[in-house]
Amino acid sequence: MKINGIPYRSIWMEPGNLAAFFIFDQRELPHRLVVEKISTVEEAGIAIKEMHTRGAPMIGMTAAFGLYLAAQAHGDAPGLNDALQHAGKMLNATRPTAVNLAWAVGKQLSHVSGHGGSNAQICEALLANANLLADEDAATCRSIGVHGLELIREIAARKNGAPVNILTHCNAGWLACVDYGTATSPMYLAHDAGIPIHVWVDETRPRNQGARLTAFELGQHGIPHTVIADNTGGHLMQHGMVDICFVGADRVTRAGDAANKIGTYLKALAAKDNDVPFYVCLPSSTFDWGIRDGVREIEIEQRGDDEVKYMEGIDAEGKSRTVLITPADSPAANFGFDVTPARLITGIITERGVSAADETALLRLYPEHR
Ligand code: MRU
Repeated sequence: MKINGIPYRSIWMEPGNLAAFFIFDQRELPHRLVVEKISTVEEAGIAIKEMHTRGAPMIGMTAAFGLYLAAQAHGDAPGLNDALQHAGKMLNATRPTAVNLAWAVGKQLSHVSGHGGSNAQICEALLANANLLADEDAATCRSIGVHGLELIREIAARKNGAPVNILTHCNAGWLACVDYGTATSPMYLAHDAGIPIHVWVDETRPRNQGARLTAFELGQHGIPHTVIADNTGGHLMQHGMVDICFVGADRVTRAGDAANKIGTYLKALAAKDNDVPFYVCLPSSTFDWGIRDGVREIEIEQRGDDEVKYMEGIDAEGKSRTVLITPADSPAANFGFDVTPARLITGIITERGVSAADETALLRLYPEHR
C-alpha cells in the first residue's frame, strides 16, 4: 500500500542490512511517520507488548523476524535450540489474545526443529522462512479482498451508483498485516475497481486505532470515509446508513466465535437487530482449531488503565499532548477484546473463500481440521 504515493509494506528489511528489520511506530500515526529499527529479539518483544506495532498478523510477523534476530545474536555458541525456545516463550507472553503470534512462533520453531545444520544455516533458514511468511500474509490478505469484493459488488448493483456504506471497527488494515489488511482489503479492491464506497470508521477507544490508523490508511488510498464515535454504529444501522460491516479478528474458534477489538460484539448485536450483514475477515492463521466456545475459552487481554484515563493527540502547534480525561483517582478497566458469538456473524471471509460461521461449514473449507 502507498503512503504519500510511495509503496510500503508494514515490515521490511533493507537491502544489504541483515542485522535489523523495520516497522512503523504506529503510536506516532497519523501525525508523524516514524520508522522503527528492530535490532534484537528483545526489541521485537517490546514493540509488540507496548504496541509500537499491533494487529494480529503483524505481531506474528514481528515475532517471526524477531526469532531470526535471536538466532543471529546467538552466533556460533552452543545451545541455539534452547535460546530459540526461550525467545519464543518471551514473544508468546507479550500479548495473549491474538493467536497469530503463537502461530508464527510455532512456524519458525518447527521450521528449524531437527535442522541439523550449523547455527549460521539455521539463522539463514529462519530469515528465509520469515520472508516467506510475510509474502504469504500479503497474498492471503489480497485473496480475502477478492472474496469480499464480490459481496460489495452485489450491494453496489442494487444501489444504482450510490456509494456502498461499509462500517469497520479498530484497524484491520495493512498496518495490522503485511499489506492490504483483512477487513480493509475488500474496500481497497472495490475502490480500485471503481465501485463507489464510503467507510464508517469506529474511533475504537481507548487506543483509537480506527481514528488514528484506519482513517490514515483510507485517506492515503483516497477512499471516502467518516470517523465516528464508537457508540454511533447502532444509530446508523437503524437509519439504513450501513450496508455491510467488515471487521478483523484476533482469534476465531472452530465453531466460528470471533475475538476482536473490544466493541466488536456490540456492533454485531446492532447489525443483527437491523439485518445488516456482518462479516469477519481473517487469514487462516487466526483460527484456533483447538477450541469451540470463544466466550469461555479465549483469554482476553487486560491493559493498563492509563489507556482509558488519558487521551493523546497533537495541539494547534503540532506538539504531542497527553491529557487526563477522568478524575485523577477514578479507577478504569481496560479489556482489550471481546468475543462475537458465531450466531451474530453472517459470514467468515478467509483466503479460501466465504463461509457460514459454523463448524460444519468451516470444516468444508478446512477439511484438514476435521
Ligand atoms: O490491540 P490491537 O490493536 O492489536 O487489536 C487489533 C484488532 O483487534 C484488529 O482488528 C485485529 O487484530 C485484526 S488485524 C487484521
